[in-house]
Amino acid sequence: MRKQIAAANWKMNLKSTEASTLLNELLAAPYALKSHQEVVFAVPAIYIPLAVSTLVGKANFFVAAQNCHQKNSGAFTGEISAPMYASVGVKHIVLGHSERREYFGESDALLAEKLNAVLAINSTPIFCCGEPLAIREAGSQNEFVEAQLKNGLFHLSAEEIVKVVIAYEPIWAIGTGKTASSDQAQEIHAYIRTCFAAKYGDAIAQEISILYGGSVKAANAKELFAQPDVDGGLVGGASLIVSEFEAIIHALK
Ligand code: 13P
Repeated sequence: MRKQIAAANWKMNLKSTEASTLLNELLAAPYALKSHQEVVFAVPAIYIPLAVSTLVGKANFFVAAQNCHQKNSGAFTGEISAPMYASVGVKHIVLGHSERREYFGESDALLAEKLNAVLAINSTPIFCCGEPLAIREAGSQNEFVEAQLKNGLFHLSAEEIVKVVIAYEPIWAIGTGKTASSDQAQEIHAYIRTCFAAKYGDAIAQEISILYGGSVKAANAKELFAQPDVDGGLVGGASLIVSEFEAIIHALK
């Protein structure tokens, strides 16, 4: 079975003591994850060492970065590279979140470079895609997302693409409390999988985990994750609340 993943995206939230309390309270519960289930915490870069040390010995729990620079090193003040993240224990890097595309002008071409940097050090990219409201209202979401995949990912080989995790996050559902229905999520996740099948073949497409993101919470996680092509979630607001994220982890299939 392909990987089922509950990924927390803390975004730019929490002070150090709050971060530590949240992780410790979350980890106090028993989870008994199956071998195909993973929990990932995309924390602000400054909390990565704290998160890595808190998760020591916790099988299938990982710390992720929320972004990285496309170059490995150099004169890029304020930036952090993929090899730097790997050197402190990061195994996953989120790329192309809609907030980075919108507020930091990240293009598909730039994301393609970042992907190469992440794959070169054997880390797992969590590649985000998803349409704004106007595109959904026009009914063009499939074409919009397909273009993001083609421009950002389709330069990768079959061996590389199976290492990528996709997060489909409709922008109109992020932080709005408005979730895609489980039918809407399933429909576009299945479409995304057909795009991979057309390019790389069905066997490869079946191996790729596709997470849903956008107002995932305890109350809707089980129904969303039960969809055949929804392989878990990338969770913002609800990942900052212990009881919510705990239930979301338990909703993994
Ligand atoms: P919310 O869960 O707060 O809607 O955020 C989703 C998201 O952007 C996760 O990356």
